[in-house]
Amino acid sequence: MNILVTGGAGYIGSHTCVALLEAGYSVIVADNLCNSKVETIDKVKQITKKDILFYQIDVTEEDAVDKIFSNHDINGVIHFAGLKAVGESIEKPLTYYYNNLVSTMVLAKACQKHNVKRLVFSSSATVYGDNIVPFVETMNLLPTTNPYGETKAMSERILTDIAKANPAFSVSLLRYFNPVGAHESGLIGEAPNGIPNNLMPYVTQVAKGKREKLSVFGNDYPTVDGTGVRDYIHVVDLAVGHVAALDNITEGVHVYNLGTGQGTSVLELIQAFEDANSVEVSYEVVNRRPGDIASCYADASKAERELGWTAKRDILAMCRDAWRFEKNYEE
Ligand code: NAD
Ligand code: WQD
Repeated sequence: MNILVTGGAGYIGSHTCVALLEAGYSVIVADNLCNSKVETIDKVKQITKKDILFYQIDVTEEDAVDKIFSNHDINGVIHFAGLKAVGESIEKPLTYYYNNLVSTMVLAKACQKHNVKRLVFSSSATVYGDNIVPFVETMNLLPTTNPYGETKAMSERILTDIAKANPAFSVSLLRYFNPVGAHESGLIGEAPNGIPNNLMPYVTQVAKGKREKLSVFGNDYPTVDGTGVRDYIHVVDLAVGHVAALDNITEGVHVYNLGTGQGTSVLELIQAFEDANSVEVSYEVVNRRPGDIASCYADASKAERELGWTAKRDILAMCRDAWRFEKNYEE
């Protein structure tokens, strides 16, 4: 089975390539490297000792995408390619809407033209907005606070409508919670450009001495200790979730939360990181970050029921693996 992985050189995509290759799938990656490096593809080959085909293309370009579908007998697509920086999406909405929506439509069109019936899409828990936790797939989606989040809700809608009109099309919409950690080899992981927006890469950079201290965004939320609560999920578990989604894909549209079902506060994550790695993480509490919600965690029971998938790695493993990658990583 040949799987086209768009954005396969990125953080979640590269770990998913490893999981796919280990499960016996053949992998073709399409990535324009706007937020990743080609060396990551070599690292995936090194980890799996398997080959991988790589196309450096922009997935919004219809002709380039069409060529890949013409050159290979593709059995399924996993669409990771997208821009994901929430703050940047507020400054550059058109860039985000164009990249994230056009890429989804170009791929759906190529699937139709070349009779490819399986598509797995990277969505996000952000589409739940400020619903009441735990988030369940059946909840009405609420507005997100930024264009990035809206591109996920819109892409879900576009793919849902296409699947409704084409009953043989199988679409799996995967709503990720907060992916963290890295492959246990330490060879691939999350390496954001510039100042990290997300908590875990900021924590690892403070531990490494690259940044002075972490700003904890608010300690007056209605949570266990006043800091924001999130459902952190090890990126390797998330990657394995994609293989489960592909293995079990059926006609129509199916939505799955990929999370652990466990909430962890910012202070709890700092403590877990210190305990797992015997390093100190300096921090100070500052004002809330605009757009943040108090709590976000999954009801992860549907993925377990229908895909036979659950996350296996705990918060200590996430912290250990994130730190191993950061220590190894040279820019
Ligand atoms: P990433 O930036 O590491 O990976 C995305 C990859 O897509 C990069 O390699 C980038 O170069 C590529 N890309 C972007 N636009 C492209 C285009 N037009 N053509 C070709 N390649 C393109 O991000 P990630 O964390 O691995 O996220 C993967 C997907 O999962 C994204 O769609 C993201 O929105 C979604 N997601 C991520 C998170 C998270 O916290 N990391 C949470 C929920 C959903
Ligand atoms: C986690 C917690 C912060 C940084 C974002 C996107 C979402 C998805 C995942 C997708 C919050 C606190 C953070 C810091 C802090 N992305 N924090 N200091 O906001 O849950 O989700 O990433 O592609 O769409 O919105 O993740 O890691 O930024 O924050 O105190 O320096 O850590 O307030 O409570 P978030 P995050």
